[in-house]
Parts: sequence; C-alpha cells; structure tokens
Amino acid sequence: MVRFYTKAERGDVPVKVPEGEWAAEANATLMLHHQNLLCVGLGEKTDLRTAAGTALRKLQKAGHVKVAFDLRAHAGAVAEAVEGAVLAGYSFETFKAKKQIGVQSLRVIVNAKDLARAKKGAREGEFSATAANLSRSVGNLPGNLLYPETLAAECRKVAKAEGLKITVLDEKALQKGGFGGLLAVGAGSVRPPRLIVMRYDGGRAGEAPIALVGKAITFDTGGISIKPADKMEEMIFDKCGGMAVLGAIAGIAQLGLKRNAVGIIASAENMPSATAYRPGDIVKTYDGTFIEIINTDAEGRMVLADAIAYARKDCKAAAIIDLATLTGACVVALGEYAAGLWSTDDKLRDALMAASAKSGERLWPMPLYDDYTEQIRSQVAAYKNTGGRYGGACTAAAFLRAFAGDTPWAHLDIAGTAWTTKSEGHLARGATGFGTRTLIQLMESWK
Ligand code: BES
Ligand code: MN
Ligand code: ZN
Repeated sequence: MVRFYTKAERGDVPVKVPEGEWAAEANATLMLHHQNLLCVGLGEKTDLRTAAGTALRKLQKAGHVKVAFDLRAHAGAVAEAVEGAVLAGYSFETFKAKKQIGVQSLRVIVNAKDLARAKKGAREGEFSATAANLSRSVGNLPGNLLYPETLAAECRKVAKAEGLKITVLDEKALQKGGFGGLLAVGAGSVRPPRLIVMRYDGGRAGEAPIALVGKAITFDTGGISIKPADKMEEMIFDKCGGMAVLGAIAGIAQLGLKRNAVGIIASAENMPSATAYRPGDIVKTYDGTFIEIINTDAEGRMVLADAIAYARKDCKAAAIIDLATLTGACVVALGEYAAGLWSTDDKLRDALMAASAKSGERLWPMPLYDDYTEQIRSQVAAYKNTGGRYGGACTAAAFLRAFAGDTPWAHLDIAGTAWTTKSEGHLARGATGFGTRTLIQLMESWK
C-alpha cells in the first residue's frame, strides 16, 4: 500500500516519525514495514504524477508485482497518480538479456463518494500514459532497425489496432507530389523517406481536422555538414517529434475523443554519401518555395516545410501544431526543463499552455519577430535553411512559419526534452514521449 503526504499532512502518518528522518519532502519515501505501507512525500504542493512514479519505481525494484495506492486524501488527483505510475512502469528492455519483472496490477482506493470521478480519472491517466509509452517504445529503437520504411510499418500496426485511416507516401509518391524537402534530406540514404498520414475521424463529417505534424529523422548524422562523433548516438532520438504525434493520435483514438485529427509524420534518414544533398543546393518544397541549403544538418525544417504545407493544402487543417527536436539552440536557451513554444495564434498558444500545465510537460513561449525571417532571407532563393548562430531556435521557427500560411500554427522545439539520461520520478532513461500527453490534453479541451 502507498500513501501520499504533503508537509501539512505529515502528522497523519500512522506512526510517530522524527522530522529529521522524514519530513514529507517531495519524493522522499518512508517504508513502514510493519504496516506494509510506503509513505511518499509531496512537499508543499501536490504533484502526484512524480510521487506516484517514485513509489512505483521503488516497489518495482523491490520485486512487487501488485501495488495499491490509497488516494482517499487525494481523490482529485487519481488521473495524475495513475499516469505517473504507468509512465514509471515502462522501461526499454527489448534488447537486454535479463528483463525486470514489472508491476502487473495497480489498485486505487478512494471513498465511495469519489468513485465515479476516480474511475474517469484512472481511465484518462492510464490511456494518456499508455500513449506516451508507445511513443517511447518506438522512439527508443535504434537507427539500424527503425528507418522510414519500418517506421511506416509500425504506424500501420498502430492504425490497424486503433481503427485509424493511414496513407504512406513512398519515394515514388513523394517525387510525383513534389515533396522536395523530404526527398533532399533522404537523398543521401539507401533507406528512402516516407510521409506518413494517419487520420482519426471522431468529430463531425467535414469538420476541419487539427493537424499534428512531427519531425521523424530516424538518424541525423548531419549529412555532408557532418556532426562531431561525440554523442552522435543520441541522434536516434531525432525522430521523437514524430513519435509524439504517433502516440497522441493513438491516444486520441483510444479515448474516443469527438474531434477530427490528422497525424503527419515526415520521416527520413540524414546521411552523407555520393547521393546526399549538399550545401549550396537549391531545393523546391511541396508548396513551390525555393530554399538555399547552407547547412545539411538543418534538415528538420526541410522535411517539416513539406509536411506543414501538406497539412495546410491537402488536409485543410483548422490548426497545425508541429513538434520537432529541431535545434541545439533551443537546448542552450531552455535546458532540458522545457520545450520552446512559438505560435502565430494567441488562442492556440493559450490552449497549449493550459494543456501543458495539466500534463506537466513544460512549454515556454518564444518570440516570432519579423527580424528572424529577415535573418533567413536568401540572395538566390526565398529562404536559406539556416540564419547563423544567433537566435538559432527562433530563426528555425520563423522558417517553419512560412509554410503554415494563414492557418493558425504552433511549433514545439522538443530538442531538450525528448529524451533523458536519468531515471527518476515517472521517467526513465531514453525517449520520454514528450508532447504526447500535452497533445492529448489539447485535443480534449480544444474549442
Ligand atoms: N537534430 C538536430 C538538433 C539537435 C541537436 C537536437 C542536438 C538535440 C540535440 C538538428 O537537426 C540540427 O542538427 N540542428 C542544427 C541546426 C544548425 C545547423 C542551424 C543545430 O542545432 O546545430
Ligand atoms: Mn541536423
Ligand atoms: Zn535533426
């Protein structure tokens, strides 16, 4: 049994515990063996998500397979607690010789009067965490196994399981359609690019869908503008924007939300080779815009240019939200603690900030001054694909903005939050699924 205590509730613990031993600080645990009770501190506020994750991780390590949370004192936070537990229960062990036996069952105890809302919360928490875990499972796969074609196969499996419509544009279809951005980035690899389009029609027929667009570079070497070797292995996570979209659209379908949504995943492998695109190239994107390539490592915006234009022109989206591990500059600005948020639409920005407050996935608003667009003007084409070091995350956002046209648009740069090297609270080493739960929240509350 697990119980959660804020500092103010510390006195409710069934035995006397000296404050020096356990002060109910956030995520501090106290095991009372005689009572078979694990007490978890909440500190001043009540972040049940992380505390539940801490509890689950601790019990799982001790070999427990059945866990019960006593939430009689926190019945309003059942969703967060269940979400935190299901997130903490995930670990990536596909390729490990010894696998950990995970927690198999979670019971939640509430008072009878709170039962109905607790059940609703438990369902929401479980579904949204399961969606994020799907995003993490595919996100953690390495580049030799997961590339555009095998990613499309994974998406087909999910679409079949959740009853989604799916269309995959292969290299021939991309050529025919004029998706020059995706084709340029994919040109260096023997594994051709894919545009994966998944539709969920839960709303009225004819209702314009919300488009969720994701960057899914299955491995980013930088291409001809090659990256240094140090930490290059982390670039298996350069597909995580697309993974958030995959998880979110699956979660939205599982929850049966009454909305239309379309998930668009732009996938390529960025490799240096004799067939690779090069600095100085001029590339025509899906909407006919010419781009001068300055740096082949600024590939994310090239594949997203096509995908965002496709959302606007072909899907007639009511709003477009893209997610991408787009720039190292965003990590310099915000660290690993928040994703940058850029938007052309106040209502969409507010809705995303509200969704973020609920999901606990931090977003921080960033500017879209016209000066950034000026910084990426080209002498020979409409735009350059980089604008130099200063304001790198903002010039990248300004670049994407051009492809959304008048459609309300928001961009999340998740370069700092898409994966982690530490295991604590509700998260574990590897892909975090960041964005999945915020997108589901957004879709739940939109309009
Ligand atoms: N995928 C990277 C961004 C990235 C780098 C994410 C490190 C997480 C950690 C992206 O494709 C990239 O290489 N961006 C360049 C852009 C530059 C060439 C303008 C960058 O940030 O250095
Ligand atoms: Mn790159
Ligand atoms: Zn990249």
